[in-house]
Amino acid sequence: MTTRGKNTFYIHTFGCQMNQADSAIITALLQQAGYTLAESEESAGIILLNTCAVRENAVDRIEHYLQRIQGMKKRDKTLTIGLAGCIPQFQREETLTLSPAIDFLAGPDTYRTLPALIEQVRTGGNIASLEFNSAETYEGVDPVRQGVISALVPVMRGCNNMCAYCVVPFTRGRERSQPFSAVMGEVKQLVASGYREITLIGQNVNSYHDPEQGTHFAALLDAVSREAPEARIRFTTSHPKDISESLLRTIADRPNICHHIHLPVQSGSTNMLGRMNRGHTIEEYREKIAMIRSIIPGVALSTDIIAGFCGEQEEDHQASLKLLSEVRFDLAYMFFYSTRPGTLAARTLVDDVPETVKKRRLQEIIDLQNSISAELYQDAIGSVVEVLAETESKRSAGQLMGRTASNRAVVFDREGYQPGDLVRVLITAATSATLTGQPE
Ligand code: SAH
Ligand code: SF4
Ligand code: F3S
Repeated sequence: MTTRGKNTFYIHTFGCQMNQADSAIITALLQQAGYTLAESEESAGIILLNTCAVRENAVDRIEHYLQRIQGMKKRDKTLTIGLAGCIPQFQREETLTLSPAIDFLAGPDTYRTLPALIEQVRTGGNIASLEFNSAETYEGVDPVRQGVISALVPVMRGCNNMCAYCVVPFTRGRERSQPFSAVMGEVKQLVASGYREITLIGQNVNSYHDPEQGTHFAALLDAVSREAPEARIRFTTSHPKDISESLLRTIADRPNICHHIHLPVQSGSTNMLGRMNRGHTIEEYREKIAMIRSIIPGVALSTDIIAGFCGEQEEDHQASLKLLSEVRFDLAYMFFYSTRPGTLAARTLVDDVPETVKKRRLQEIIDLQNSISAELYQDAIGSVVEVLAETESKRSAGQLMGRTASNRAVVFDREGYQPGDLVRVLITAATSATLTGQPE
């Protein structure tokens, strides 16, 4: 058995890019306090799970993982276990009942207290640090990232939207933006460190609003793209209500901003969008898509969609299928609805679509979207695309994996290229999720 270094830690990250970015912040905060990153989970004295609560199956995954950790802790009583992120923030002290192995809980706004929590927990007892702090943006913390090619930069945190199905406003609290000057400082550092791709992230990234000078997202994106002219600039997630003409013109005008917009629709039916509290009709969504395509020709679009939300009728489901056929998204993240306790839907609506129906509708959505993605990807055969190489391909060291500016995954023959290189690749084959090719 490997011995565990008492002051070493290992973070296992679940959920969205915001959690990934937070794990880099947690790493920095713990390192500042004298803890070091363990090489592996097996050698760590502290294991932190940075958790996600967005759907029931996300929570199931973590419970499953906790069982494994419980076994580790039985073998080694000195192991310290913490849960961070959205589950403890949402389920509060009740989270401790998930497993007797859990020593402490921290929420997305309390990571600065982690070193103190760990010290305290080691003198005995469980502790929870779950205060909301709507001023916390972790300004001044220099995140310790894992990769050296792509960097996530959180520019805003929290969400004020209150979509009826969604737990995020309850786990992440009120919206708050990072000062413009702080974002620019971070981008300067990333450029100096040679990062090739910078993704600005936030639950509603396009509602960014600089707390000092009131700068909006379009101006921030423009400034970031000028500060890092050699890097690809991406951003996610956008809410349809905040897609403005000035934002689209910025994307169209700046050569290094990727022509890709992730624009969750959630449903193709106005009736359902109303129940979901999305704040727009499906016609308004279609108008946004038309405006995006007229200002940024050839733009790649992706979306999120939920099957079987409360009260969804067959005609609402058909409307979702129709929207997918019309818009022809490059990619969609597709889910069936699961109730999250405490949300608006859980309190005011009935989860009345039977599970079998939800799953059947989801399968129809997946089948349709996969056939659309496959057609779009097939169309790319014979074209030359610019790929930012990210890693070796999982299947062979003789191939690299990377992404196009439109965020399509491409596997190509290595021919001496390295991760981090921008490579022009001739596409020779395609599935519904990956393009394959060789350097031009
Ligand atoms: N702020 C982002 C991320 C939200 S969570 C956004 O607005 O897109 C990511 C996706 O999970 C959502 O877009 C939605 O499609 C899905 N989702 C959220 N809550 C859900 C629930 N209770 N059941 C099923 N899917 C859900
Ligand atoms: Fe959730 Fe809606 Fe906020 Fe996205 S915009 S995080 S779906 S409440
Ligand atoms: Fe999950 Fe929290 Fe992200 S609930 S999707 S980790 S904001």
